[in-house]
Amino acid sequence: MTVIATTDRLLLRNWAEEDRGLFHEINSDPEVMEFFAFRRDRAEADLMLDGIRDAIATTGLGLYAAALKETGEPIGFCGLWHPELEPFLTAGTIEIGWRLAKRHWGKGYVTEAGAAALRHGFTQFDPPEIVSFAVTDNHRSTAVMRRLGLRHEPERDFDHPRVPDTHPHLKRHVLYAISREQWKQAVS
Ligand SMILES: CC(C)(COP(=O)(O)OP(=O)(O)OC[C@H]1O[C@@H](n2cnc3c(N)ncnc32)[C@H](O)[C@@H]1OP(=O)(O)O)[C@@H](O)C(=O)NCCC(=O)NCCS
Repeated sequence: MTVIATTDRLLLRNWAEEDRGLFHEINSDPEVMEFFAFRRDRAEADLMLDGIRDAIATTGLGLYAAALKETGEPIGFCGLWHPELEPFLTAGTIEIGWRLAKRHWGKGYVTEAGAAALRHGFTQFDPPEIVSFAVTDNHRSTAVMRRLGLRHEPERDFDHPRVPDTHPHLKRHVLYAISREQWKQAVS
């Protein structure tokens, strides 16, 4: 099992067969998926997990599984991704993103995992910046962005082109970013 990073309480690692139930849960739970226009059934979640697992294995970049160090229990994901959102973001831009099972919210796990993922992203891939974006009302997610040192860049907010017209309230996204220089300064 490829371990990407360890923190005080967590492992960031590639996905394992026994994670499939948790991965389906976080892709289908209506509360977890409040700000997404879709839910994934088990087959769709399995297919997505396969794609992420391959991407992590071949490129090192992906939505890493976050697991409790003490028990090994998977709790969600926190990782890096190429969002492919030209023209809003230039090709090759790295996004940081997260999603946890509801019972693990409110414990600081994502902020802890996110700091490790940012470090991994900047040290392994040396991008000029790492961005994150969320539906405007997703305050739990934007709070994580701010805790990790990302800053809102309002002039880069955008209407997500892959959100269907059936869900207009989920279209507007806020864009947060941290540059390589800002990250280096924050961790030095
Ligand atoms: C977004 C999401 C990952 C945030 O999770 P979270 O648990 O709120 O974030 P953190 O792990 O940083 O935890 C912070 C909270 O834990 C609390 N906390 C408890 N123990 C803590 C500890 N030891 N260290 C730090 N914070 C701790 C903090 O006070 C804070 O609580 P608050 O929300 O009441 O202010 C989660 O809500 C989620 O999975 N949402 C659904 C998916 C989603 O929308 N993803 C983002 C799409 S853009």
